[in-house]
Amino acid sequence: MPPKAYVFKQEVMAWLNIEAVFDSTQSKTFCPERALLRGGSRAISRAVAWRCSMSLFRLSSQNPESQLVSAPAVYRQFCNFVPQGIPMKIHEYQGKQILKKFGVAVPTGYPCFSVEEAMSAAEKLGGPVWVVKAQIHAGGRGKGGGVKVAKSLQEVKTYASQILGMQLVTHQTGPEGQKVSRLLVEEGADIQKEYYVGMVVDRVTQRVCVMASSEGGMEIEEVAEKTPELIHKVYVDPDTGLTDGEADDLAVKIGVPAGASVVQARKAFQGLYKAFWETDASLAEINPLILTGSGDIIALDAKLNFDSNALFRHPEIVEMRDLAEEDPAEIEASKFDLSYISLDGDIGCLVNGAGLAMATMDTIKLFGGEPANFLDVGGGATTEKVTEAFKIMLKTPI
Ligand SMILES: Nc1ncnc2c1ncn2[C@@H]1O[C@H](COP(=O)(O)OP(=O)(O)OP(=O)(O)O)[C@@H](O)[C@H]1O
Ligand SMILES: [Mg+2]
Repeated sequence: MPPKAYVFKQEVMAWLNIEAVFDSTQSKTFCPERALLRGGSRAISRAVAWRCSMSLFRLSSQNPESQLVSAPAVYRQFCNFVPQGIPMKIHEYQGKQILKKFGVAVPTGYPCFSVEEAMSAAEKLGGPVWVVKAQIHAGGRGKGGGVKVAKSLQEVKTYASQILGMQLVTHQTGPEGQKVSRLLVEEGADIQKEYYVGMVVDRVTQRVCVMASSEGGMEIEEVAEKTPELIHKVYVDPDTGLTDGEADDLAVKIGVPAGASVVQARKAFQGLYKAFWETDASLAEINPLILTGSGDIIALDAKLNFDSNALFRHPEIVEMRDLAEEDPAEIEASKFDLSYISLDGDIGCLVNGAGLAMATMDTIKLFGGEPANFLDVGGGATTEKVTEAFKIMLKTPI
């Protein structure tokens, strides 16, 4: 049941800056969720949602007939607690499910939560080669021992037992590592060559920038630093999307063999672009995209991050969220619409306004200190918000 409240049409229109979705003469109920979906614009931010839900709460509390529960409850429905400004991450197997929907070829594989599930997945796949992959929200899993190629069912069992439950340490997890609770067991591919393709929004051109390189399987940051000439870019015109010509040109530049393989690479690039566009992703990456012995192009890895301000229109993506991968303090903070990020230092920072928070952190650093966190309570913070902010900050051990 969507929360209901009596509101004044003009007021809602002003808050949301959209065409109001209810007819005040027909029905006096207003569904904020529907209004947001109808609005369909990134301009409808969580700040507006918060303001709207607070006002609904205020109005409904003055009206005994209304059914609204509470402002935070409405707000939660809009935003699902996704930390503001922090992109939402998903696992590789979930990324591959999305890519598959957009026509990108991926190996067949199954997510597994136990060694038994890994064994039955391996039996279903049939072999002769399987890959057992740790699913954590951090890169560099292979180097940390989280990706293993198995040549028998016994090896699948050995690797699954080793990887499940391990603290996987990579360059992105910090020294304490991240506990592995999920695996992806997939068919082993016959790798002839590894490529890279990724995309982000380029703020300067205000376009999606597609990057492709012959140097797949490596950290792209390293390629950008040492051999930038090996990264080829296209800034996509939003009206046309990634065209056949642009996609083929990229494929040829990174060394995909002419003919059928280029056609498959085009499908992979355009599929990734479409997935990026339609899901409101902030980053999409396939590393490696491979050429197989028989000339096929397959995505062996998938990394997708999503713009948290657009998640209200992607409930199916919000469902993919894995809270076990996120910092509990950051989740707690997001419930109260606080921007909180844990850091390694020992000086707590509670500031109103992100700019001032950055400047405060700089000042701490300037005097030789290290901030323990970034905590922006935002302008116009209420007593409750500041109280919660203090609680979160004091809970974090130093
Ligand atoms: N299905 C597969 N078949 C054969 N080899 C694979 C398969 N999946 C991965 N590999 C090999 O393992 C390497 C590492 O895999 P992957 O890119 O998925 O993880 P990673 O790069 O270590 O982690 P991340 O991308 O998170 O940094 C690949 O470059 C590829 O050589
Ligand atoms: Mg990878």
